[in-house]
Amino acid sequence: MSRASVHGLIRRAGELGVAVQSVRGRGYRLAAPLQLLDEARLAAGLAPLGIHVLCLAEVDSTNARLLQLAGAGAPHKTLLAAEWQTHGRGRRGREWVGVLGASLAFSLLWRFARPVSMLSGLSLAVGVALARALGRLGARGLRLKWPNDLLWQEDKLGGILIEMSGDMLGPAAAVIGVGINLRAGEQLAGRLGVPVTDLESSCGRRLERNEVLAALARELDKVLEVFGREGFTPFREAWQEIHAWQDQEVRVLEADGRILAGHARGVDEQGALLLNTGAGLLRILSGEVSLRRGA
Ligand code: BTN
Repeated sequence: MSRASVHGLIRRAGELGVAVQSVRGRGYRLAAPLQLLDEARLAAGLAPLGIHVLCLAEVDSTNARLLQLAGAGAPHKTLLAAEWQTHGRGRRGREWVGVLGASLAFSLLWRFARPVSMLSGLSLAVGVALARALGRLGARGLRLKWPNDLLWQEDKLGGILIEMSGDMLGPAAAVIGVGINLRAGEQLAGRLGVPVTDLESSCGRRLERNEVLAALARELDKVLEVFGREGFTPFREAWQEIHAWQDQEVRVLEADGRILAGHARGVDEQGALLLNTGAGLLRILSGEVSLRRGA
């Protein structure tokens, strides 16, 4: 291979977030081994739950691809994970980026018997499932920021993007997208629009990507089974227990640009944020919440 091709590959690895070291007189090596997804192992572990696993090397967005597959009849509990997303989607039209071999990006198709209008609080219940699974892996002090950012020490460790497929009036099919910064949070700094951290920092130990993904899928399966029957109510207390800003003074930026200020009083049974303002207790259905520091 020519020197130029080698340099091209090293540059590409750098763009994917993979650290490559140059070893004088010998060549190049990865700074750390790459942990890749193991479809066969994941599929064997999750098949007893009825979860169908698909792993792709590269995709535009696991949510976008799974929405297409859902439209073409993909079964309930299809889980699509990818090593690399070229157009990972974040909430509010933002981009979601990862680091190759050091992030998790996956989507789970869940077909509910109820219509979309009866799924309020779904993304909050998903947040509870993720926090529970990661807590069991050793993450201490994870918090949820309304509606569903996963935080550690106030920095973002993961995000959830739920998109609906098909007919809005009939039984709902939800594509539940999850992105987790597993390690290498420092390489993501400044790229997700907010301060970031990673799961290994919160656990204080090295984790195995496939194990983390399997643990998340198992807990999601448990929580979504209950959510499908009973809605958000059984998860409300658990959500509030790990609410990052419970009873603190926050600001809410609404879609129309209005800013509301008040104390965050938790969530109601539909998953709406309860904001105590001078004008009384308001139910917030969408918006960006931030802490009013030193207010
Ligand atoms: C957020 O903005 O906090 C939501 C981030 C969600 C990212 C995940 S990564 C897997 C799935 N596919 C996507 O394109 N987005 C979600």
